[in-house]
Amino acid sequence: MNTLQAIVKRRSIRKFSDKPLTQEQLETLLKAAMFAPTARNCQEWEFVVVRDRAVLKRLMQAHPYAQMLSTADCAVVVCGNLSRETSAGYWPGDCAAATQNILLAATEMGLGSVWLGVYPTEERMSAIADVLALPQHVRPFNIIALGHPAETKEDVERFDPAKVHYEKW
Ligand SMILES: Cc1cc2nc3c(=O)[nH]c(=O)nc-3n(C[C@H](O)[C@H](O)[C@H](O)COP(=O)(O)O)c2cc1C
Repeated sequence: MNTLQAIVKRRSIRKFSDKPLTQEQLETLLKAAMFAPTARNCQEWEFVVVRDRAVLKRLMQAHPYAQMLSTADCAVVVCGNLSRETSAGYWPGDCAAATQNILLAATEMGLGSVWLGVYPTEERMSAIADVLALPQHVRPFNIIALGHPAETKEDVERFDPAKVHYEKW
């Protein structure tokens, strides 16, 4: 599968089988994340990998739309370490780019994933920071649920030329 194929194939997967990811697969995903671009190359992201079912359950309780964590093999909580941020306010964009790399790499590897939004909802950020004991300068950006897929999605067409503006609006 090439990059363009992974981009169109990637869909949010919310049902997972029992089969766990190998440590090698997990590290491949995290490596993909760390090759993402960041503002002034500050690489301020940090990744909290959660596999403990009790902690996954607490994450589910901290997030209103995260029920799929009950069958996910693991969750990666993408965080921004503000002490490494060199351009104020860019950390969410940097975390989003790292997230998309994980989603695309997972697709290429035949794994399922879904992005669960956390930032900028203060209530979710605070609840998740508590569950993971994050220091004050580390902000949770999202949760990525990961596992072997137990559902398939129809192909979709999303290209809409009406959304493209050449030269000016
Ligand atoms: C910022 C953001 C927040 C999201 N939050 C959730 C979420 O809380 N729960 C969930 O099940 N899916 C969540 N999603 C996944 C979207 O629902 C999904 O990407 C969208 O419906 C399009 O479907 P697709 O990913 O299969 O293309 C989120 C996606 C983004 C980008």
